[in-house]
Amino acid sequence: MAEYVVEFGKDGRPVEPDGRLDAAAFHRNHEPIWAVLQRFLAGKSGDVVEVGSGTGQHVVHFARHTPDITWWPSDLNERHLKSIEAWRAHAALPNIRPALRIDLTDPAWCPPMHDGSGPAELLAVFCANVIHIAPWRVAEGLFAGAGRYLRSDGRLFLYGPFKRDGKHTAMSNAVFDTSLRQQDAEWGVRDIADVEKLAAGVGLALVETVPMPANNLILVFGRSGASA
Ligand SMILES: C[S@@+](CC[C@H](N)C(=O)[O-])C[C@H]1O[C@@H](n2cnc3c(N)ncnc32)[C@H](O)[C@@H]1O
Repeated sequence: MAEYVVEFGKDGRPVEPDGRLDAAAFHRNHEPIWAVLQRFLAGKSGDVVEVGSGTGQHVVHFARHTPDITWWPSDLNERHLKSIEAWRAHAALPNIRPALRIDLTDPAWCPPMHDGSGPAELLAVFCANVIHIAPWRVAEGLFAGAGRYLRSDGRLFLYGPFKRDGKHTAMSNAVFDTSLRQQDAEWGVRDIADVEKLAAGVGLALVETVPMPANNLILVFGRSGASA
């Protein structure tokens, strides 16, 4: 099933007075996603940026499990940035930093890293449900930045629906893809091979493909040639 076809806060779900938005899909997908991330992140320390954080709920869940990791949520939508900040305040966890305004169409999407006010080289980048609901240049920017900012043992986790060898993996994804393209001709479910080509261009390689509920996948990228 398609996870996002309406904007958070405009889908009839409650909006808290402080601006916290609630994504229905978060409640279904955060545990399966965490089960994959924790295999890599558990026991590690460092900085992790989430791009396109949306409501901000995922970072809160992940940060609770990883006190030695500093989480940097981000988005470019003002309403979402407000929600991320509200969830951060609500959670009151010391390892979640204020939301960054990151626009993935900029290949150098993490300016605070350049001026020293943001994270250091990244242990991981997490990106869920973004590159199919955005123009392809967002995927290009995501990978350009990941190639630049990930540390040598770092990982990019990319969650969402994907095509494999040009074909949808489920009828529901095909229907979702059509609805996305009807909303915006530049949107659409991406093919794994096309995403791998972007990765190769910035020195990253697909190291794992993990099936997820509802015909989604997590694609895990690391530096080409780096040991697992
Ligand atoms: C479908 S939501 C997914 C939110 C969250 N990751 C989740 O899974 O619940 C897509 C998010 O990508 C963000 N987004 C869209 N274009 C973007 C861009 N160019 N740079 C960064 N974020 C972007 C949107 O503002 C939105 O919050």
